[in-house]
Amino acid sequence: LEGRGPTNVLPFPVSASNSSFAVTGASNWLLLNINVTGYFRVNYDQDNWNKLLTELGTNHEAIPVINRAQIIDDAFNLARAKHISITLALNTTTYLDKEREYLPWSAALDNLGYFRLMFDRSEVYGPMQKYIRNQVTPLFQYFGNITSNWTRLLDGLMEQYNEINAISTACSQGVPECTQLAAAFFNQWKQNPSNNPIPPNLRSSIYCSAIETGSEADWEFLWQMFKNATVVAEADKLRSALACSKEPWILKRYLEYCLDPSKIRKQDATSTINSIASNVVGQSLAWDFIRGNWKTLFSQYGGGSFSFSGLIQVVTQRFASEFELQQLEQFKADNADVGFGSGTRALEQALEKTKANIKWVAENKQTVLTWFETASS
Ligand SMILES: *[C@@H]1O[C@H](CO)[C@@H](O)[C@H](O)[C@H]1NC(C)=O
Ligand SMILES: *[C@@H]1O[C@H](CO)[C@@H](O)[C@H](O)[C@H]1NC(C)=O
Ligand SMILES: *[C@@H]1O[C@H](CO)[C@@H](O)[C@H](O)[C@H]1NC(C)=O
Ligand SMILES: *[C@@H]1O[C@H](CO)[C@@H](O)[C@H](O)[C@H]1NC(C)=O
Ligand SMILES: *[C@@H]1O[C@H](CO)[C@@H](O)[C@H](O)[C@H]1NC(C)=O
Repeated sequence: LEGRGPTNVLPFPVSASNSSFAVTGASNWLLLNINVTGYFRVNYDQDNWNKLLTELGTNHEAIPVINRAQIIDDAFNLARAKHISITLALNTTTYLDKEREYLPWSAALDNLGYFRLMFDRSEVYGPMQKYIRNQVTPLFQYFGNITSNWTRLLDGLMEQYNEINAISTACSQGVPECTQLAAAFFNQWKQNPSNNPIPPNLRSSIYCSAIETGSEADWEFLWQMFKNATVVAEADKLRSALACSKEPWILKRYLEYCLDPSKIRKQDATSTINSIASNVVGQSLAWDFIRGNWKTLFSQYGGGSFSFSGLIQVVTQRFASEFELQQLEQFKADNADVGFGSGTRALEQALEKTKANIKWVAENKQTVLTWFETASS
């Protein structure tokens, strides 16, 4: 798509991977793979990237929604492969405060997810959180408005997913209106436990935020609700939200519950430990727990549906330092006699992934920090 309107549609996708195209007119931009009908990534010269970014910032709807998502996703993938700079990839997200569609938001959140894992225990995270808060707040307000304060169920599935993304991102990044909303819903429920007023599709995000910002009493209330839950889907939401606490002692106790089948069923143990490990506060606790209990876990849970592969993958997903790499190698050596069962391959992959993460962080951390500091100021 060339130019400023749908009249300049070129017959793409094209099959050549290195074709070059001339664009006429200084202000015109060129967009390949219109409506993403082909499976390929598109890189542009810096001049065209600049024009696309300007268009996104001033009139993003001139570019089809699926292409807006593709621009973001392509940029992050091209940056990972070092075809373009990480700064350019991050620049594709600056227009998101105006974006209301699911696909571009989802592409951005997926790609920024890796940044969160690499940086949520570092000084990059403050500016990063502030930036994401600024970007997501208009989306959050938009959904609050069109759902009459979160009371109306939206029609389309994508709209519903987007609403969930908006609320879970806003609450987890600490947008005050969102955390207050979650606390208000939660308190209403606590006052009348047999009548849950929280819209079912928003429950996972609301529960998690309420537990994250709430008290021990809030945790105990949710635990009671979990024990009393009769519908599996609801029980799963509650069990995973209980892992959102920021209190190390609560998370540590919850990990211990995972070895007590009267509290957490054996078939739910891995996914519960994974939820705790996904929480930035729970991550190191879960790692200690797994290292400390590997032989027990392996002998008592080894036969069933216990997924050692998922467990190793999740608990090591933030590893990005030499020290963590050493710990992982030590873990492998210490348990060589018992083995890793279904987690053997995951362990090798975790070692490789950690090495790649160390390299990526060394190469990008300072640039990313500076970028978020500038973009959030
Ligand atoms: C791209 O998709 C949009 C929405 O489905 C449609 O209106 C438009 O005509 C499509 N453009 C092209 C060039 O296929
Ligand atoms: C990213 O955006 C900033 C601010 O607009 C700009 O100064 C910088 O040149 C852009 N970088 C790239 C690689 O596009
Ligand atoms: C809220 O929605 C109404 C229509 O539903 C719209 O007219 C209004 O501009 C919206 N307000 C905000 C702040 O988005
Ligand atoms: C939503 O709630 C806020 C604060 O309680 C109120 O000011 C606003 O009018 C409400 N909006 C709608 C659409 O119900
Ligand atoms: C526990 O579950 C039962 C049956 O679903 C329900 O009647 C009861 O109100 C629940 N208790 C609480 C405290 O929610």
